Amino acid sequence: MHTAHTRIPPTVELIETPEGPAVRIIDQTLLPGELRMLDLTTIPEVCEAIVSLRVRGAPAIGCAAAAGVAMAAGRSTAADQPGLYMELGGEIARLGATRPTAVNLFWALRRMEHLLDGSPYPNATALAERLALEARAIIEDDLQRCMAIGRHGRELIAPGWRVLTHCNAGALATAGYGTALGVIRAASEAGCIEMVWVDETRPLLQGARLTAWELVSEGIPCTVITDNMAASVMGRGEVDAVVVGADRITRNGDVANKIGTYGVAILAKHHGIPFYVAAPISTVDYDLAEGSQIPIEERRCDEVTHLAGHSDHAVVPGGAGVYNPAFDVTPNELVTAIITEKGVARAPYEPALQQFA
Ligand code: MRU
Repeated sequence: MHTAHTRIPPTVELIETPEGPAVRIIDQTLLPGELRMLDLTTIPEVCEAIVSLRVRGAPAIGCAAAAGVAMAAGRSTAADQPGLYMELGGEIARLGATRPTAVNLFWALRRMEHLLDGSPYPNATALAERLALEARAIIEDDLQRCMAIGRHGRELIAPGWRVLTHCNAGALATAGYGTALGVIRAASEAGCIEMVWVDETRPLLQGARLTAWELVSEGIPCTVITDNMAASVMGRGEVDAVVVGADRITRNGDVANKIGTYGVAILAKHHGIPFYVAAPISTVDYDLAEGSQIPIEERRCDEVTHLAGHSDHAVVPGGAGVYNPAFDVTPNELVTAIITEKGVARAPYEPALQQFA
């Protein structure tokens, strides 16, 4: 068990091995009990890791998919660019079919596909090297973006604040540092965070398992609550701000994020608490006008019927119906501000976000 001040390794890396490139990830399904790295060497392995949430969080799945394309290109025996494109086109489609809600996945895959299909390369090796550069740039840029989000966001947090967060929008959900947790990390470095309330985040407990693990690793004081306790702690005046991440933000500022976020936003509004969303611009889908257009992933029933998805702990009788949407949409009127790497957007969101496009 990793407790205080564990150094968190990179969430996603494109590494070289004697057998060829591999995508190295932290297997997040094992946390907080075990910190184990996994080296993925085929596209089906990368797809499985994304679907089963071994790697998860909007920016991190974009990074994993990009690294997956580069890994497959580095291991390909195709002789030329058309051959490589033919081989990888299907793999890109397969990666794109893993999870529908986070737009960063499609954004990263488009960047890779653009190279495959774009200016000519003398041979497949040169193109594979370029794809590896691109994947590493996507990962490095994401880290820089998160740090910029942290710098902008910390200005919104006053000394002594107790901040509530939902799900995990931390280093584990990005290339490092995090979006919502990036704001919290930066505010903590500035001496402003008294405590972080961590929503457990049913059904898969990303808050309890992952966010609390990150905060404990960093030595930032945190208190885990079950999701149904948030109203009560807000009602007692013990929350000064909410900061969450996002999986997709539409042009008008509607925000898809982990299921339960919408409820937290309503609670924050009722209690007069600022509700901040922290996300890189790669999470903004400028093609969609509003949140009702965002495809919402539905996941397996056993994630709800069994505690944390474990097959030996049924908490629902057989025969009961189960509904398991992984995300919900928070309407823009509940969002106090959207913190991006380019600055802080406030309502009206359409022109504010357009400015950062
Ligand atoms: O299903 P998950 O664990 O991938 O959901 C993750 C979230 O909802 C995060 O809040 C979001 O991706 C932002 S991560 C910086």
